[in-house]
Amino acid sequence: MALPEILRRPLSLPVVASPMFIVSGPEMVVAQCTSGIVGSFPALNARPASLLTDWLSQITEQNASFAAANPDRPVAPFAVNQIVHRSNDRLEHDLQLCVDHQVPIVITSLGAREDVNEAVHSYGGIVLHDVINDRFAHKAIEKGADGLIAVAAGAGGHAGTQSPFALVREIRRWFDGPVLLSGAIAHGRSVLAAQVAGADLAYVGSAFLSTHEANAAEEYKDMIVSSSAADIVYSNLFTGVHGNYLRGSIVAAGLDPDALPESDPTAMDFGTGDDDDQPKAKAWRDIWGSGQGVGAIDQRRSVAELVTQLRAEYDEALAAPIWDGHRELSLAPAPA
Ligand SMILES: Cc1cc2nc3c(=O)[nH]c(=O)nc-3n(C[C@H](O)[C@H](O)[C@H](O)COP(=O)(O)O)c2cc1C
Repeated sequence: MALPEILRRPLSLPVVASPMFIVSGPEMVVAQCTSGIVGSFPALNARPASLLTDWLSQITEQNASFAAANPDRPVAPFAVNQIVHRSNDRLEHDLQLCVDHQVPIVITSLGAREDVNEAVHSYGGIVLHDVINDRFAHKAIEKGADGLIAVAAGAGGHAGTQSPFALVREIRRWFDGPVLLSGAIAHGRSVLAAQVAGADLAYVGSAFLSTHEANAAEEYKDMIVSSSAADIVYSNLFTGVHGNYLRGSIVAAGLDPDALPESDPTAMDFGTGDDDDQPKAKAWRDIWGSGQGVGAIDQRRSVAELVTQLRAEYDEALAAPIWDGHRELSLAPAPA
């Protein structure tokens, strides 16, 4: 099945930047879109909720003026992430704003709902739903999602435990629609690997944590640069759902990363309590999420510089000879 039109528009790289709680805001999203990759942010990052409409207008206007000033550069569409969990008391409000602003792509997590998908389809938007296994993938498509985000082992934030090879293969046995793959993709070669494994696009989060545009503490950005896969701890203690976090931030919070207790999943709460500032943010503000791909991130730079770097690595991987068992060949077309 062909990709929906919105995902077939020119991109500088086949990448969707994933939404990150607290970290992704309009500055980051505009930098991602104007660098030619799909940018995204969680609706819950706009606090209070009334700020969301301003963010949506700002992103739309800044992308449009960049496109007008740079007609030869691809400006990618943007996506808004909705947490479809019963504790998200803003969902209805935030979804209505996505409808009003005709947000081109909505990314849903932690719950698949027909009415949410229908609302996005009502104006021609598409819904990508993130899943950690094939059972949830079936459910998402049954409820009307247009595409799937396979969140494999090693992903930052809430993450699954399945190998990307296993997860994509199981999904591709029955689904030929859009599939994005995520989990520790922080290098251009890994973007290509995701496509070779069967995904249409790569879904990349943690690699953007150390960019200038990320709304993250300086120490967080530095820790991303200095950490590698061995520094990532998988735990459900902080939100009730299993996720990957930086060991150094757990130590700094006075906890032993090697002896974290199990949490109660019913403790999961995405309510906003608009009256106080960021009441539920502690898990992400003090305990820093990150995927295992951070070993590939060795400096702080701008989003544009990171995308340029990923593209160069992707091109290098395309051109590099691979051994098919009896001869060397390359994925890049031979020069004419
Ligand atoms: C700090 C952080 C915060 C995140 N917050 C969200 C979120 O609010 N909503 C969501 O759907 N995914 C969230 N994620 C998960 C990402 O969308 C995505 O699945 C993940 O970053 C991909 O793996 P990678 O980080 O290894 O590239 C978060 C990830 C990180 C690292």
